[in-house]
Amino acid sequence: MTTPALPLTDPALSELLTGRLALVEERLRDAVTHTDVLADTASRHLVNAGGKRLRPLLCLLAAQLGDGRRPEVVDAAVVVELTHLATLYHDDVMDSAPLRRGAPAAHEVWGNQVAILTGDLLFARASGLVAGLGPEAVRIQAATFERLCLGQLHETVGPADGADAVEHYLQVLADKTASLIATSARFGAMFAGCPADVVDTLVQYGEKVGVAFQLADDVIDLAVDGAATGKTPGTDLREKVPTMPALLLRARAARPQAAQADRDLVALLDSDLSGDEALAQAVAALRAHPVLDETRDLAGRWAREAVTALGTLPPGAVRDSFVSFTEALVDRAA
Ligand code: IPE
Ligand code: IPE
Ligand code: MG
Ligand code: MG
Repeated sequence: MTTPALPLTDPALSELLTGRLALVEERLRDAVTHTDVLADTASRHLVNAGGKRLRPLLCLLAAQLGDGRRPEVVDAAVVVELTHLATLYHDDVMDSAPLRRGAPAAHEVWGNQVAILTGDLLFARASGLVAGLGPEAVRIQAATFERLCLGQLHETVGPADGADAVEHYLQVLADKTASLIATSARFGAMFAGCPADVVDTLVQYGEKVGVAFQLADDVIDLAVDGAATGKTPGTDLREKVPTMPALLLRARAARPQAAQADRDLVALLDSDLSGDEALAQAVAALRAHPVLDETRDLAGRWAREAVTALGTLPPGAVRDSFVSFTEALVDRAA
């Protein structure tokens, strides 16, 4: 999997950030080295496999609202990608995902124990680096990490009896995905010396765009070919991990006047999807169902709210780039 071109409209800004991202890349690779051969190989595995580097990009872009040349900005961009990487190692164990970034998931290569410990090693490296950014950054990183864990925990246990499953899931997305995306933008603005109101705006933006991004990811899991995503389509369906299209379908099928076809599809989703044929059938049925467009619409709505949150930023190339970045994220699911 290759890193795609930056979804930014301004060529000068794009060139500047490409240069900064190259620096982040170098630092990231240094940050995952170990003298222990297994720790070294396993830690490098997903960095080397590719990925979009969206979180470092957001950090660097946000920093352009202030003094983006400050070295702390690059450190912060490395911290957020290391944190993200760690969550991917853990997430693939929890979701039994075979592929990540077009490569076999770490647990497929080394087993669950090594994959989990490698995720922990990456968290340790992120913690070491964030310590150099001061106590405020450490506090934000800790709060973000807590939300990442709680999001994954709440996804695992599901809503309490009587709670709204869709509302519960939106909170899961805010915690497991938007928290780190918001922190990425926040760190960029903070370490570039932006005023508090700009930092706050970027937090609001990140919280919204993060949910839009994960909703788009739920669509992509069903609608986009694995060769393009580097992931195996339908992984969450197979493992019975809830996603928005499946939750919307369940809500429809639970209504008294529900269509029999929707009830049948829920029964299919609840059946054993470990065989490739059964999984392909479930993916195809959900892909053709209106709940997929409903999820796209929902992603679009969160993306528009994200753009609205940007309203108080000074107009210019950076704000425009945040808008095009937001559109590119949800367009992936179009
Ligand atoms: C994957 O994130 C996990 C989610 C929160 C959806 P990305 O889609 O940013 O993954 P990479 O970094 O490009 O591999
Ligand atoms: C990943 O969520 C969220 C985190 C890594 C915290 P998913 O499980 O939905 O993401 P993918 O589809 O595997 O990338
Ligand atoms: Mg997953
Ligand atoms: Mg998951």
